Amino acid sequence: MDFKTIANEYKTPLYVYDLDHMTKQYEKLKEAFRGRKSIMAYAVKSNSNLSVVKHFADLGSGADCVSIGEVRRALAAGVAPYKVLFSGVGKNDDEIREAIESDILYINVESEAELGRVELIAKELGKVSRISVRVNPNIDPKTHPYISTGLHDNKFGVEIDVAKRMYIKAKNSEFLDPVGIHFHIGSQLTDLKPIYEASEIVADMVRSLHAIDIELKFFDIGGGLGIQYDDESTIEPYDYAQAILGTLKGLDITVICEPGRFLTGNAGYFLTKVLYEKQNGEKRFVVVDGAMNDLARPSLYNAYHRIEAITDNDGEVSKADVVGPVCESSDFFAKDCELPMLEHNDLLVVHSAGAYGFGMGSNYNTRNRSAEVAVKGGEVRLIRKRETYEDLIALEKDLLG
Ligand code: LLP
Repeated sequence: MDFKTIANEYKTPLYVYDLDHMTKQYEKLKEAFRGRKSIMAYAVKSNSNLSVVKHFADLGSGADCVSIGEVRRALAAGVAPYKVLFSGVGKNDDEIREAIESDILYINVESEAELGRVELIAKELGKVSRISVRVNPNIDPKTHPYISTGLHDNKFGVEIDVAKRMYIKAKNSEFLDPVGIHFHIGSQLTDLKPIYEASEIVADMVRSLHAIDIELKFFDIGGGLGIQYDDESTIEPYDYAQAILGTLKGLDITVICEPGRFLTGNAGYFLTKVLYEKQNGEKRFVVVDGAMNDLARPSLYNAYHRIEAITDNDGEVSKADVVGPVCESSDFFAKDCELPMLEHNDLLVVHSAGAYGFGMGSNYNTRNRSAEVAVKGGEVRLIRKRETYEDLIALEKDLLG
């Protein structure tokens, strides 16, 4: 990819997405589940740009959404309502109402209290709400604690016994239709065993519900497939699918998968230009025009992102911290990164930035969010304009008092 030309045309900081890579990843995963009915419900939170969501919709994908805003994005991007799921531990009444009215596939319910709200709102609307219960199988996914979700210590889902009570309540309600079961034990998973174990527990639950006449149609395995940021070994989609399908023997149930990072992570690049080289005693810093407000993962999780320098200097490399202009010591993209001496306006490409990059950005320090471009079949297209100062103050400027 010609990052230099793209950066010169669209300026930096900039996100660039390779839509062809996203297609390849999507097809790999879909193909892995070929042996059975399946829906890929793209996890919109990983990259919610409308054009990206539309790209997946065009491939036939559904959408896993965690706010009504995401549901609206998915529908606006052309995802079929019957492939849209609404998950999350804290849906408010307005969100539940709109989800029921939009006639999406189902709401993933995460507590008994929430099931009560959904029933009440469905009753007010005179409708039946399709639901699925998110089960917390109490399995350690062995990932970063901030992105682990399948342990009782985490706020997500309900225990098996509680889930069973919820299904019985739903079955006996005129306004609820229990159609699915859901689990998601964490993100950036690189070990298959915990996924398999969780799937076994949840599949057993499907069988025990079947025994009491509760027939589920959807087995929603969440997302979580890890990608390679550095040299970690990852799970092959085929092995993933085989492990899950192995737990479903004898069950006539559609698999729903909610992949995010696997589809978008390595399709995205964050481009930033060098402002200055700077030495504080022994310590070398490369100061760039992008910052933690653009890409928060290094600051937030100490996450590793490979950095590639595009420069005419091919001399000796030395270690440097790559830092942004935000007034926080945690504003860095890399620590002790081996880089040649860099010049003003040299370009740095931050790899694996397509998932949880732009979407976790902010306007901290009154910095405009960067632009986003997509590349497909060699063609580059702007898919989000760079924010302006006027955009940033638009909701405040008439309220000065
Ligand atoms: N389904 C559910 C219910 C989820 O909570 C998530 C992610 C996904 C699907 C998609 O997971 P994926 O396939 O992308 O791993 N900001 C963090 C990641 C947070 C993930 C939250 N849930 C990061 O930058 O690593």
